[in-house]
Amino acid sequence: PVKAVEAMRDQEPKSLRALNEIIAASEPMVAGGTRAVLGEGPIGAPIAFVGEQPGDQEDLHGHPFVGPAGQLLDRAFEAAGIDRSRAYLTNAVKHFKFEQRGKRRIHQKPTGGEVKHYRWWLEKELDFVQPQLIVALGATAVLALAGKAVPITRARGPAQFGERAGFITVHPSYLLRLPDPAAKEQEFAAFVADLKRAHSLVA
Ligand code: URA
Repeated sequence: PVKAVEAMRDQEPKSLRALNEIIAASEPMVAGGTRAVLGEGPIGAPIAFVGEQPGDQEDLHGHPFVGPAGQLLDRAFEAAGIDRSRAYLTNAVKHFKFEQRGKRRIHQKPTGGEVKHYRWWLEKELDFVQPQLIVALGATAVLALAGKAVPITRARGPAQFGERAGFITVHPSYLLRLPDPAAKEQEFAAFVADLKRAHSLVA
């Protein structure tokens, strides 16, 4: 797959559609998933959200953020007054990586090497979409966008990803994993506040 990606890089896609065709036709870096889950949303969307990688539901349906984390994100968007159809949503890694446990496919966090492997695609994708602001949802997105690991708790808020204006916040899955309902509610409110603030930074 690494060789294949290198060969594709020479093709220099001229549009987001051409890029997506390359991504869709490529082998996953880690075998097992059903398909590449491509970014979605209008070119020129003022705000783009970058997650980690598609989960089980995203892999099955072929759309980003449609599983439990996506549903939580939708609720947060609604609370923050963000229209999902006007935003661009994508992931740092385009294929689902998992461990099979019985019938369940348990999500596996991508390694730094995998994030790096997919980074060229993400950069190209964002070059075509040209959002005014890129919101990194969680540590993997930050790693992909900043090119280095940055602790979310310290860096939460407005950020710069190279030439691009960015914003760092938590991943919705983090909220799903919190066991204490009060903490969950509090963290959800903080997440909504982050989204509102990010949204206020775009025209
Ligand atoms: N988590 C992500 O990071 N992205 C998705 O698309 C779904 C869950």
